[in-house]
Amino acid sequence: MNKNIVCIGAGYIGGPTMAVIAKMNPDRKVIVVDINKDRIDAWNSGDFSLPIYEPGLVDVVREVRGRNLFFSTDIEGAVKECDIIFVGVNTPTKMFGRGAGRASDLQFWEATAREIKNYAEGDKLVVEKSTLPVRTAAAMESILNDHAKYRFTVLSNPEFLAEGTAVKDLLEPDRVLIGGPQDEVGLAAIREIVEIYATWVPRERILTTNVWSAELTKLAANAFLAQRVSSINAIAGLCEATGADVDEVARVMGADHRIGSKFLKAGPGFGGSCFKKDVLNLVYLCESFGLHTAAEYWSGVIKMNEHQQERIVSRLFKAMFNTLANKKVALFGFAFKADTGDTRETPSGKVARLLADEHVRLVITDPKALPNARKDLADIVGDGSRLAFEEDPYKAADGADAILLMTDWRLYSELDWGRIYGSMRKPALVFDTRNCLDRRALKEIGFKVLNIGK
Ligand code: NAD
Ligand code: UGA
Repeated sequence: MNKNIVCIGAGYIGGPTMAVIAKMNPDRKVIVVDINKDRIDAWNSGDFSLPIYEPGLVDVVREVRGRNLFFSTDIEGAVKECDIIFVGVNTPTKMFGRGAGRASDLQFWEATAREIKNYAEGDKLVVEKSTLPVRTAAAMESILNDHAKYRFTVLSNPEFLAEGTAVKDLLEPDRVLIGGPQDEVGLAAIREIVEIYATWVPRERILTTNVWSAELTKLAANAFLAQRVSSINAIAGLCEATGADVDEVARVMGADHRIGSKFLKAGPGFGGSCFKKDVLNLVYLCESFGLHTAAEYWSGVIKMNEHQQERIVSRLFKAMFNTLANKKVALFGFAFKADTGDTRETPSGKVARLLADEHVRLVITDPKALPNARKDLADIVGDGSRLAFEEDPYKAADGADAILLMTDWRLYSELDWGRIYGSMRKPALVFDTRNCLDRRALKEIGFKVLNIGK
């Protein structure tokens, strides 16, 4: 078995993960392939205008691209050349048939497995990098090994990086998880993958399990994180009603080391491509195994999250004298979190649509996510008179009745808020859904201020 690695899928997971693996394993050739030619062209672009934005990623790609990292659309050639095959294709929520709206749509994964089988000219080690339902590895192994000329071993190596900190998370992971069959062949395969990570990750942080535990751990970890966000947002509503301050409550709760301080920031609700999809997937799994109360429990996490965006619009409506029609609202931040241009499942998207329903004149500003925002809202943009996009936050706020801050970009806390106040219609409102601005300073300037959980 040779040491070359191919990763099928050059997205948010495939690109950064393989760039770091190539950086830390200069003796291995790493090829990232995708069916999307535009994406591959962007990864190969001469000026390094990569298809995704991640702090620090350009530097890593600059160092390794053309040395031992290659991007290509030649899937067949890469599968033939490499014995270790990571698969990081997308696994969106299925929108049709059985499990619609909850289960994972595994058609891309299965198509990839069949491609691997067709192209292989020797034994292969297939590594799930995508997040998949429990027992997918077993299904894939059946497809791959049924009447096959070669032997395929399927492992699960889910990825825990978060967007915006992908490079840091990859370089200094809390843990790497590798699950595989607990027989001689499976254990040997696990050792092969451990060696890739052990070039930079301390061995005690490389955890190995059986393949089903690995698959389930990934879903469970995302569900726990999402649950914390929904839990603190549920407390935030109570803070608004009672006069408590959610940031104070979170600070003191988080000081208990059993609870911990991370993922206790109240806000507009979680977005991103994975939390909702993975919790829904867990709900579907619970239902499939007859665990209906558990399914209901996890569904509550999603329900609470969706409620948070409706609550934001209701509070804005009330604060603006119960009419939003023809008022100008500047929406600060469209990315689902700071330091990414990703807008998948962003709370801003839902809020923008709810505001459009109220006939608001909406101007959206964001330092990295405007190209995606334009695509996401293409169906409601109309002639542009009610929905506009503006890179400059000062221009976006000019003449506005309210600013609705949705993404915690650091630049927003560094703006000249006195200047912004001067250019707005009065009374001027700031609704800071991330609690990241200086509330007292804003009030002193003259703003009416709303927060989450205050
Ligand atoms: P993505 O959509 O950014 O990238 C997936 C890529 O796979 C696309 O470029 C697509 O063209 C390609 N693809 C699809 N079918 C293909 C095929 N048959 N052959 C070759 N290429 C194909 O998705 P992503 O965000 O990278 O997520 C991928 C997986 O990783 C998902 O299962 C997700 O849950 C998981 N994950 C994502 C993150 C994250 O931060 N985005 C973190 C952890 C895990
Ligand atoms: C998340 C997990 O953190 C990763 O471990 C996982 O690998 C990834 O999902 C995945 O499977 O895709 P990501 O979605 O990129 O990563 O970003 P997070 O930092 O987890 O934030 C998710 C959402 O929750 C964001 O909208 C963020 O603003 C929100 N959030 C997070 C809060 O509202 N409050 C918090 O305290 C933390």
